[in-house]
Amino acid sequence: MKSTYRILAYVIAGLVVVQAALIVYSFSALDKYISDGATITPAIWNDTNASFPGTIGFALHWFDGVMFIPVVTLILVVVSFFAKIPGGVKWALSILGLLILQIVLGFVARAVPGISWLHGVNAFVMFVVAVLAGRRVPQAQSDTTVTVAT
Ligand code: HEM
Repeated sequence: MKSTYRILAYVIAGLVVVQAALIVYSFSALDKYISDGATITPAIWNDTNASFPGTIGFALHWFDGVMFIPVVTLILVVVSFFAKIPGGVKWALSILGLLILQIVLGFVARAVPGISWLHGVNAFVMFVVAVLAGRRVPQAQSDTTVTVAT
């Protein structure tokens, strides 16, 4: 259970990095598309079936953020109750709290662009907390029991 806790925490940290990579890809692809002369109207932008360079990244950012990371985080919270890591539950719940804030900020950012930067900052906080949570389980304390012959 301790190993599972550590792996899940690191997976969450990795998924936050994936989120950054996806959104940077999407906006640079969109930038080039518009710079090359294309026009994105509000109707195209808000059409979930529309396809233009970068749409795959936006779609994956949404899926990863609203579906995949929440599922992995909820599993981490459940595992934390059985892993018996000092402070493990507290750290897992902190990641869950930061994730909820991150999703709210992701949607609010569209309506209030002035606070959208908090979505980027909170992602880095979440990354650091996930790494620190994983590091709370030293290799020696993982599930393997070492028997010392006397
Ligand atoms: C746990 C990590 C993250 C989660 C759960 C998350 C979640 C979300 C959600 C739910 C949205 C709204 C999607 C929509 O309106 O369709 C969003 C939008 C956005 N996110 Fe994230 N995000 C994460 C990390 C990041 C990171 C690391 C960055 C950049 C460094 C980022 C940049 C953005 C941007 C620029 C948007 C606006 C996209 C748009 O206008 O369509 N996100 N995010």
